[in-house]
Amino acid sequence: MAAVSSSPKSPFCGLRSPRGGAVGRFFSHGSSRTLTCSLRFPAQLRPLFWPWEKVKIGPLTVSPMGFGTWAWGNQLLWGYKEEMDDSLQETFNLAVRNGITFFDTADSYGTGRFNGRSEMLLGKFIREYKGTDKVRDNIVIATKFAAYPWRLTSGQFLRACKSSLNRMQLDQIGVGQLHWSTANYAPLQELALWDGLVAMYEKGLVRAVGVSNYGPKQLLKIHDYLKSRGVPLCSAQIQFSLLSFGDDQIELKAVCDSLGIQLISYSPLGLGMLTGKYSASKLPRGPRAVLFRQILPRLDRLLDCLREIAQRRDKTMSQVAINWCICKGTIPIPGVKSVRQAEENLGSLGWRLSSDEISELESAARDCPRKMIQNIFQTQ
Ligand SMILES: NC(=O)c1ccc[n+]([C@@H]2O[C@H](COP(=O)([O-])OP(=O)(O)OC[C@H]3O[C@@H](n4cnc5c(N)ncnc54)[C@H](OP(=O)(O)O)[C@@H]3O)[C@@H](O)[C@H]2O)c1
Repeated sequence: MAAVSSSPKSPFCGLRSPRGGAVGRFFSHGSSRTLTCSLRFPAQLRPLFWPWEKVKIGPLTVSPMGFGTWAWGNQLLWGYKEEMDDSLQETFNLAVRNGITFFDTADSYGTGRFNGRSEMLLGKFIREYKGTDKVRDNIVIATKFAAYPWRLTSGQFLRACKSSLNRMQLDQIGVGQLHWSTANYAPLQELALWDGLVAMYEKGLVRAVGVSNYGPKQLLKIHDYLKSRGVPLCSAQIQFSLLSFGDDQIELKAVCDSLGIQLISYSPLGLGMLTGKYSASKLPRGPRAVLFRQILPRLDRLLDCLREIAQRRDKTMSQVAINWCICKGTIPIPGVKSVRQAEENLGSLGWRLSSDEISELESAARDCPRKMIQNIFQTQ
């Protein structure tokens, strides 16, 4: 087993087998690192996070960061190809070996013939993970059920849950989430979907229930409704990053805190804009380019601030952006497409930004002339 020779920008000191498979472990050993690496991680035995830093989602306990899998099966936006599957499996294995127990997916993830691919891959990766049953059992999948217009009854929503279980070949889902609210355009459907959540919880198909793209007002309504049916609402997932930070996010977080709901931050890297690897002259392929072209040229101050803090701390910009989400009391779920990205994002754990750094970042974020566009399904 040889230590990887890390470049000065290498964010994480994973070890690799001679075949190139990542064998980084939950506990990092300074002795197997290069000098550059040891600057980032102290040279003593040290976990990426301590057991008491794990986070509760209702009855479940998960790692302080999860990984998002929207890209796994999505050709249109994320350029997925089947040839990526081995590398995605390695990415998953590396994450689990390093203590990550939380993975976000959705029944709508995967485009065209890859519909449902993200759930299928996650199920396969869990089954094929070469570790103890205990490690596999600790993995929590949070999937989202789409509020498609043809899912009009609670029974249809329940069937959606069973289809997800089939795709993943699991008996139970960790967190079953309603992907979005139909309150703005089909309020009657919304009630049927809530009843569907109740049914899947009562039948034991999901251990906890959550929502996504709910604003504070609608969150209170569903919380009270589920409570009246004896179902605790355990999580709320929204777009939460330095690129989308503002009064709405602060208000939702306060409501979540008052109700004991765990906030999950999606798109914590602003779809990649906060990683520092894109610029007006270096855009990603596909539809993201259109969005990035409008937003990126206006982000100089925020990106400069992220870069400065990253340099000062010997971290990367992505690590700082994700760490900020953790410091705000949320579980970030950065999307990962490769072992390298997972390695880097794991380096967001095990340290904390100072309160001054958080203020600097938030001041730069507030002054940003452009923010990320809001999800069209986000409610009040
Ligand atoms: N509930 C909802 O409606 C909703 C909506 C959106 C997302 N989500 C969930 O949240 C997860 C994360 O959000 P997201 O995927 O939209 O955006 P994100 O986490 O802000 O960005 C992810 C993308 O950034 C790039 N990236 C990630 N780590 C990197 C690193 N260390 N260095 C350089 N580039 C890196 C990768 O794309 P490239 O390499 O192609 O740049 C990756 O796919 C999703 O996977 C999904 O599970 C939920």
